[in-house]
Amino acid sequence: MSTYVVVGLQWGDEGKGKITDVLSAQSDYVVRFQGGNNAGHTVYAGADKFVLHLLPSGVLQCKGKCIIANGVVVDPNAFLQEISALESKGLTTDHVFISRRAHVIMPYHIMLDTYREEAAGNDSIGTTKRGIGPCYEDKVSRIGIRAIDLLNPDILKEKIEKNLEIKNALFEKLYQKPSMQVDEIFEQMVAYGEKLKHRIVDTELELNQAIDSGKTVLFEGAQALMLDIDFGTYPYVTSSSPTTGGVCIGAGVPPTKLQTLIGVAKAYCTRVGNGPFVTELDDETGEKIRQTGHEFGATTGRPRRTGWLDLVALKHACMINGITHLVITKLDVLSGFDSVKICTSYRTEDDREIDYFTSSTTKLDLYEPIYEELPGWTEDITNINQFDELPPNAQSYIRFIEKYLGIEVYLVSVGPDRSQNIIRKNLF
Ligand code: GDP
Ligand code: IMO
Ligand code: MG
Repeated sequence: MSTYVVVGLQWGDEGKGKITDVLSAQSDYVVRFQGGNNAGHTVYAGADKFVLHLLPSGVLQCKGKCIIANGVVVDPNAFLQEISALESKGLTTDHVFISRRAHVIMPYHIMLDTYREEAAGNDSIGTTKRGIGPCYEDKVSRIGIRAIDLLNPDILKEKIEKNLEIKNALFEKLYQKPSMQVDEIFEQMVAYGEKLKHRIVDTELELNQAIDSGKTVLFEGAQALMLDIDFGTYPYVTSSSPTTGGVCIGAGVPPTKLQTLIGVAKAYCTRVGNGPFVTELDDETGEKIRQTGHEFGATTGRPRRTGWLDLVALKHACMINGITHLVITKLDVLSGFDSVKICTSYRTEDDREIDYFTSSTTKLDLYEPIYEELPGWTEDITNINQFDELPPNAQSYIRFIEKYLGIEVYLVSVGPDRSQNIIRKNLF
């Protein structure tokens, strides 16, 4: 048995794609278990740049199979576009499969997401408008359309009719928007089913058998703990469980089979979309981090909000996920600061100091960060691959994080390329 889970510990975009790509070269399976094409996972391989949204980042290097498991929501159009973009670069994608149980993002989910966000104005969540939330809603309401339904036109038509009855009422009456036509959507979906039928398979049995027979299986999370539907900054979250626990329901693999739980965090924080962010820097320092770190969304192109590392939030994320191995990415971006700050506790609105993460999103907005200020470093660290060659202050920064969290940092990433890593412990 050899299983690895990679999850994000902040607000997404920690560099999960890069880490998954590195680990996937030695994996027999790479599995996405939640989220959809709201994700944007960037991988640099020499001169080539790939941004994966729905496909597992293992698609580039994994010699075995890449699985989009039952917990993922699949936009067939986005899937086919991503496949053809990769094939046009000369890559093969025959090893990519979709679970028959995965729910399908329908055109009406995208429209509902869009209309809702528009109508919410200043109270919007700032979603990616990919239809993620509405698709998960239908799944839980038990009216969703699954990948298997694309292969059964009679059932598919009936389900689209029932869904459109409800969605069209919302479009016309609540949002004053045009209704959508059953036939148009039905024909489109049947055509997608035809194109995808050789990839739509049962995945949970195969994955469990693979694990039992000693194959290496890597699970790739999208989004991150602070965007988790239960443990994030609700309601400013996504609609899935991007946790290690999410693997169990999202891929049908029991907790007893999950071993190495890898949490990825940036050396600072970023967030796209709305919602509280205690360590946010709305100043020159924040702008410097944004520019140096190229902090612009891989899916929507939006500038990412930036701030210092928040250890209170990170501790919460490690606890919920049971992280056994930490990865700190983008340490190179912090080169060139006189000093670097790390948030170790919060000052509450009634002047108490706390070091745990709260469930009250509105209160969180009022909290002030309490920082530890550490001396910075100026050296370019992007070519370093041994921990003891890092400037002493950069080493101390990593050690400070380890001590606070009580978890070892097994990999420090010092640049976007798959080769720019300080690996302190070999996992395989
Ligand atoms: P993901 O969603 O977690 O996969 O992360 P994204 O790909 O959305 O965002 C991370 C960005 O940082 C990407 O552009 C990566 O190429 C880049 N990146 C990853 N690790 C490093 C690193 O250590 N240093 C620098 N400078 N960039 C990195
Ligand atoms: P990766 O996998 C960063 C954010 C959106 C919004 C909220 C809800 O690249 O880390 P949704 O479209 O999911 O309903 O939007 O979640 N969000 C992400 N932010 N990285 C992501 O994915 C994200 N996926 C969703 O910006 O705030
Ligand atoms: Mg991303």
